[in-house]
Parts: sequence; C-alpha cells; structure tokens
Amino acid sequence: MPRFAYVNGRYVAHREGRVHIEDRGYQFADGVYEVVPVFDGKLVDEEPHLDRLDYSLGELKIAQPCARPALRFICRELVRRNCLRRGILYMQVTRGVASRDHKFPATVKSALVVTTKNYGGPTPRMIEEGARVITIPDIRWARCDIKSISLLPNVLGKQQAVERGAFEAWLIDRNGNVTEGTSTNAWIVTSDKRVITRQLGNAILAGVTRASLRKLMADDGYKLEERPFTLAEAKSAAEAFLTSSTSLVLPITQIDDDRIGGGKPGPMTRKLREAMLAYVAK
Ligand SMILES: Cc1ncc(COP(=O)(O)O)c(C=O)c1O
Repeated sequence: MPRFAYVNGRYVAHREGRVHIEDRGYQFADGVYEVVPVFDGKLVDEEPHLDRLDYSLGELKIAQPCARPALRFICRELVRRNCLRRGILYMQVTRGVASRDHKFPATVKSALVVTTKNYGGPTPRMIEEGARVITIPDIRWARCDIKSISLLPNVLGKQQAVERGAFEAWLIDRNGNVTEGTSTNAWIVTSDKRVITRQLGNAILAGVTRASLRKLMADDGYKLEERPFTLAEAKSAAEAFLTSSTSLVLPITQIDDDRIGGGKPGPMTRKLREAMLAYVAK
C-alpha cells in the first residue's frame, strides 16, 4: 500500500483519502484519467500523458484542475513521497462536487486525485510465452478517444477475459474489425513484415505507448500501416501484440482458440519490446 495520495490540494495518508459523495465522478462517471508508467523513479512520457489529459478535459468541457507546472509538480512529488521506483501513477480529474443534476453545474471546481501503485509489469512467463486474448463485441460509446472514467464495458470485457483464462479481450466493431483491447492497443504483423494497427479516430484511445512505439518504428525503418484489420486477418497474422503504459509491448500468441505464429512470440514483437524497454530506461 503506498503511503500517500494527493486529494484536492493535500497529500494525505493513502488509506485516508476521501472524496465527496456528490463528486460527479462518483455519480455520473463525469471525469477523465491518465495512467503514467514509472521506471526507475521517473515518469515516462509525462508530457504526452498530460497532453492527452488536456485533450480529454477539453472534449468534455471540464476545467483544468490546475496549471500544468503545478500538476507536474504534484505527480513528481507523489512519486517521491511514495518512494516509487517501478509502477504507475494514476490521476483522475472529475467535473467536481455539486448537487446531483445531469447538466453541468453553473459553478464548480474540478476535483483532482492522484495515486501511485507498485507494479512490475506482466510476468516473465507471459513475456516469454505470450499472452492470450479473447474477442468480444465492442459495445462502448462513440468517443473512445476520450480517456473517460466511464469504463463499464472495459471492466466487463476484462472480467470475461480473466474468467476465460485470458489476459485481455480484443473488441470487435460492427464490421468485424478489431478496434483495440479493453485497456490496450492492438497490433498485428503480416508474414511480409508489415506492422498493422488501427488508425486514430473516435473508435480507439490514442495510446501514448502506441505513439512512442510508432516513433521508434519510424526511426528504425519499420513498415507501419494504420488501418482497420479484421479478426480473420488477425488470426492468420504472423505475429500479434498489444501495447499499453503498463504492459509496454506484450506478445500475443493466442486469439480465442487460434494460435498465432505457431504459439510463440514473434521476432518482430521481441525486437519492438526490446526497443520499448530501452526507450523507457532512457
Ligand atoms: C482502451 C484503451 N486503449 C489503449 C490503451 C493504451 O494506452 P497507453 O499506451 O496510453 O497506456 C489504454 C490504456 O489505458 C486503454 O484504456
């Protein structure tokens, strides 16, 4: 259990952190969040995460809880106070506290909560053997580009995955295309070494890991195609993997009952994971 949390202006003992019963996050899921990975005590890709937070807040017309330098300070200070070396920092901003009414309150102050968690990433066994994903219909709303705290379809999807012995659920849209995972972006590699992931838009979250990997790939001359891909294409791919701040690049060796790449993590995925590990260690 971490020692401290940041709650609306104060660093408090984690176990004593409290928010108001009329916080609109609690009542309407009227808020957004970010998860920033921490490696060696440092926040990785801090600015892109804060940029995405601003984007989500802007799309929902939620006021920024404080100026960016103050937010940066709070995040770093919490990592320091919790002596966090490897893990994640979670920040959540809601529209604030007001008497329950759907429309935006006339005057309200955004609420900010920041916590940290020790987390070492996927197990060595999962990295070595690859993860299994199941597939389920994508029943989320039409603005998955906003990192909203309204995560029920994601929660239900992840639970289904776990109950079926898988690590993640890939979400399939009405056209039979893979959008993304419940908390990860989805990628495949073709037999002629083209890497494919869905293009940005309202159907997926613009993953920060996705963006960093994209840059690493461009530097190394990989061929990337950003477009929808079908479940059938994924199942016949040479390799598959997922990306997220918590998993970085994680090989996928089974989709539903179909093995990918002979059931072993592929060479491109391994290289991309190595490149990502070097990037976060910088
Ligand atoms: C739905 C969804 N897609 C993709 C991602 C990966 O994003 P990132 O790489 O910024 O962690 C997440 C992360 O939480 C997510 O919730």
